[in-house]
Amino acid sequence: MCGIAGYIGKEPAAPIILDGLSKLEYRGYDSAGIAVFDGESIHMEKAMGRLRVLDEMTRHGALLPGFCGIGHTRWATHGCPSDTNAHPHMNAENTIAVVHNGIIENYGKLKRRLEQKGYRFASETDTEVLAHMLTEYYRGDPVEAIEKVMHRVEGSYALGIMFLDHPHHIYAARKDSPLIVGTDDTGKFIASDVPAILQYTRTVYYMENEEIVCLSNEHTRFFNIDGESIEKTPATIDWDIHAAEKGGYEHFMLKEIHEQPKAIRDTISPRIREDDIVLEELGLSDDAIRALQKITIVACGSAYHTGVTGKYVLEELARIPVEVDLASEFRYRNPLYAPGSLLIIVSQSGETADSLAALRDAKAHNCHVLSIVNVVGSSIARESDAVLYTWAGPEISVATTKAYSCQLTVFYLLAMKFARLRGTITPRRFQTLLDALRLLPDQIEGLLSQKEKIQFFANHYLATEHIFFMGRGIDYALCLEGSLKLKEISYIHSEAYAAGELKHGTISLMEEGTLVVAVATQDALYPKTVSNIVEVKTRGAFVMGLTTLPHRDMENHADYVLYVPQTENCFMGSLSIIPLQLFAYYVSLGRGLDVDKPRNLAKSVTVE
Ligand code: F6R
Repeated sequence: MCGIAGYIGKEPAAPIILDGLSKLEYRGYDSAGIAVFDGESIHMEKAMGRLRVLDEMTRHGALLPGFCGIGHTRWATHGCPSDTNAHPHMNAENTIAVVHNGIIENYGKLKRRLEQKGYRFASETDTEVLAHMLTEYYRGDPVEAIEKVMHRVEGSYALGIMFLDHPHHIYAARKDSPLIVGTDDTGKFIASDVPAILQYTRTVYYMENEEIVCLSNEHTRFFNIDGESIEKTPATIDWDIHAAEKGGYEHFMLKEIHEQPKAIRDTISPRIREDDIVLEELGLSDDAIRALQKITIVACGSAYHTGVTGKYVLEELARIPVEVDLASEFRYRNPLYAPGSLLIIVSQSGETADSLAALRDAKAHNCHVLSIVNVVGSSIARESDAVLYTWAGPEISVATTKAYSCQLTVFYLLAMKFARLRGTITPRRFQTLLDALRLLPDQIEGLLSQKEKIQFFANHYLATEHIFFMGRGIDYALCLEGSLKLKEISYIHSEAYAAGELKHGTISLMEEGTLVVAVATQDALYPKTVSNIVEVKTRGAFVMGLTTLPHRDMENHADYVLYVPQTENCFMGSLSIIPLQLFAYYVSLGRGLDVDKPRNLAKSVTVE
């Protein structure tokens, strides 16, 4: 949603903060700001637009001397993107500066009370109430003032705070929005995410909900919401530093598309041992797995789409009824938790507000929660009963690719493991599936080597206004993702349909030249999807068919055909998504758009 970076130490703070913010820009990029203690006062600069505007304005921080500061890159929620609404926000006396990620839900009420007391508001943000409340409660002890504010605000927040009275200190606090503290010999850092500090330190403390930290050159002190001192143990980050760089690719998205074979290998290899699937992290006994009555998968966006594939695969192989729900719907519909059921939350970031709320609701109803998460130590990972990590590494591009692919493979592992234990597939079939699973990364590498064919096709469709994706079964689940990928980065309107649904309404939109991407990789459903291709072609549609090599007759039906290699039907999504990711990428590139940072979006949606 928004990115926070702060530094106190022996080095000039502003360049370090700006560097940190540049690694967090995926979290928000409509405005940015920074506040640095310059020896006398808190010097603040803010600028609407991308971080580079602020960077140039401050000559990469050179115009902001000082060794202690906080910065922010914003994704607007309350108040439009503008210089004034950009963070930091300060009190009237310029003695307290605050950066905030999250939403203060009761800010309207708090603001009215503060206004009655004479406080004047400069911005339209919810964050500004924090600066004024801190002023109201400050009696010389910053931690006490922060505590009092935390007891009164509702909503989510990660905060970075500076007090002019305590110029060589940074304060930070969190509730339901991520925040880490890093330390090394030369300084201390706060950040919303690891890439911001990775080039300086690998020693981090994960802030828990309702914790406060005070950082100075001498100490790192943690407190709970009641101001009591607490001990925390640091963790060591073992990420490869280059993982968060573009490494020669024009965009993070293209790099991450190419990283998929490795990411999948890293996700499945440690879990395949001696021709068996070992999921030690599962937190469920074999008997509990055999007794499972129902699985509910809850997630948002692309993660939800992997859940739709997960449903097909789990039901097909393990014969367990599976329900898939959007977290934003699930959390408010008073869901039923049947005894013997398992809830699976899927999330790349592990911080998505709706998914986290669904998790908490399930736990409050004593439902066992397993999460499939990419970011180690994230809120969803920490609060679940068990976590299966996807080992995709840092994903920077807002449009997910490699995390999506890893989530799919975790569902394959789960389905196969459950199927074997429940005796719903034979040992021989298990072995065949295992062999196919191991082969997927090589097959994806092969597909990536043919990307020019997709670029060629994409270049012909740069001016298209509407695209329809259709498929059946797993192909439909795949279409949901192909369509989302395209629309989010190309801004072309696209829709995904279960191919059999088209004739119940949407077919009226088909006219001469309408582009339809028809995915037909499921052998049993192939003739059905071909019939749907014929239906739309009769209405003038131009059809790009995506199928497997045995189905060469697709050339008799579709106008343009892309082939993907054959694998087990239930794993086909992992192969057919590759051309669709590349298609979205090349259309966005051809339209001259910002592939990695599409408008109005943020990588991590930590607010409702
Ligand atoms: C689309 C995309 C989003 C996310 C969704 C959930 O490319 O990335 O749809 O999948 O916002 O995010 P996570 O997985 O972090 O919970």
